Amino acid sequence: MHDILPGEVSKWYFIERVLTETVNIYGYKEIRTPIVESRSLFERSIGSESDIVSKEIYAFKDRKGRDIALRPEGTASVVRAFIESGMSTEKRVFRLYYYGPMFRYDRPQKGRYRQFYQFGVELLGGKDPFFDGEVVVMLHTIAKKLKIPKPYFLVNTLGCPQCKERYSGIIKDYFSKKVDHLCNDCKKRITSAPLRILDCKNSGCKKMVSDAPVISDLLCNDCQEHFKKFEEYIKVNNVPYKIDFHLVRGLDYYTRTVFELYVEGEENALAAGGRYDTLVQQLGGPDIPAVGFAIGMERIVNLIEYNTPAKPFFYLACIGEIAKLKGAAIINKLREEGIIIETDYEIESLRAHLKTANKTGARWCIIIGEDEIKKNEMIVKDMLTGKQLDISLDDYINKTKELLKC
Ligand code: HAM
Repeated sequence: MHDILPGEVSKWYFIERVLTETVNIYGYKEIRTPIVESRSLFERSIGSESDIVSKEIYAFKDRKGRDIALRPEGTASVVRAFIESGMSTEKRVFRLYYYGPMFRYDRPQKGRYRQFYQFGVELLGGKDPFFDGEVVVMLHTIAKKLKIPKPYFLVNTLGCPQCKERYSGIIKDYFSKKVDHLCNDCKKRITSAPLRILDCKNSGCKKMVSDAPVISDLLCNDCQEHFKKFEEYIKVNNVPYKIDFHLVRGLDYYTRTVFELYVEGEENALAAGGRYDTLVQQLGGPDIPAVGFAIGMERIVNLIEYNTPAKPFFYLACIGEIAKLKGAAIINKLREEGIIIETDYEIESLRAHLKTANKTGARWCIIIGEDEIKKNEMIVKDMLTGKQLDISLDDYINKTKELLKC
């Protein structure tokens, strides 16, 4: 888990602004769900055999002995809320987005954290392949707006539940003959979740995956048509993509289209998602198809350059008790006007004040001492040029605003 320090926060703000502005244009509305959910929600959606649930979940008992977990992702919670709130009874397309910390007990390394932020979208109620295309185009637009260098998508289809089941059987047969060469995890996966072998990071397993059967050979007509239309949509919108027929994703709920967003030279996906047509029903709702994705915020933050010129601000240096009290009113009047200003109430000498003003990076230092109070003035020192000017205490708000404009 990691801290986001003050120097990095403006980059986070910038990315958050690009993301929310873009998804708003596509008609997405924000939804906020709790960080803690019942553990079973994730077992029933992501799958109890998945790495996320079986190895990485932060789960514990609450004071009444109920099994709860920190959310490892957002889709399950959004679908739960969609059903519980009654949204699922309305016959229309819902476009929802969410943002917040997720938790996975992963092996920490660059781009992989135990607490990380996801910005995700879920489009519920649309089964047309053009919806799949639209979310991918939106993600590509986001990548372009963030000036991500050379983004590209890996795409695949897992087929409908029947195609997926058939493919799973074929993969099981294929790897059963090679069981001795599989890693220990994949040996277990042959019976519990054969498709997961295709996603194994072990180099020995990876070699065998490249020769494994591909799903495209056994898709039903509807699934073929769905994938074809999806491809047409992203092609006509100039989305750069490659088909990876072995792309399966590490979560159980996917059906048909799956995709991941990469940049050249980076091993980790920046974002990933796909269609999950059976999840709403699986979690107790009506038969409602859906598609979505989530962006890993830290992966974007690590990738893009962003330097904002900091807003210029003031520092207030008051010398002596009378000046301090006068300054106490002035500083907050300026703040009410939206002027950024800070001070240190404990510093007594002008020298020390000026040193602190320098350290904070203030553009101007306002100085008020007993002489200034007598003359009903304040001194404003330009910290860049060293020039000073006297400003009347009757007109200091307008005058400080004028300084900000120049
Ligand atoms: P996911 O592939 O598990 O999918 O995660 C989505 C993205 O979250 C990843 O591509 C990555 O950028 C980021 N991410 C995942 N784990 C970590 C980690 N340990 N540290 C840093 N970043 C990480 C999902 O979570 C699905 N819920 C996506 C989705 C939404 N599918 C449909 N709707």
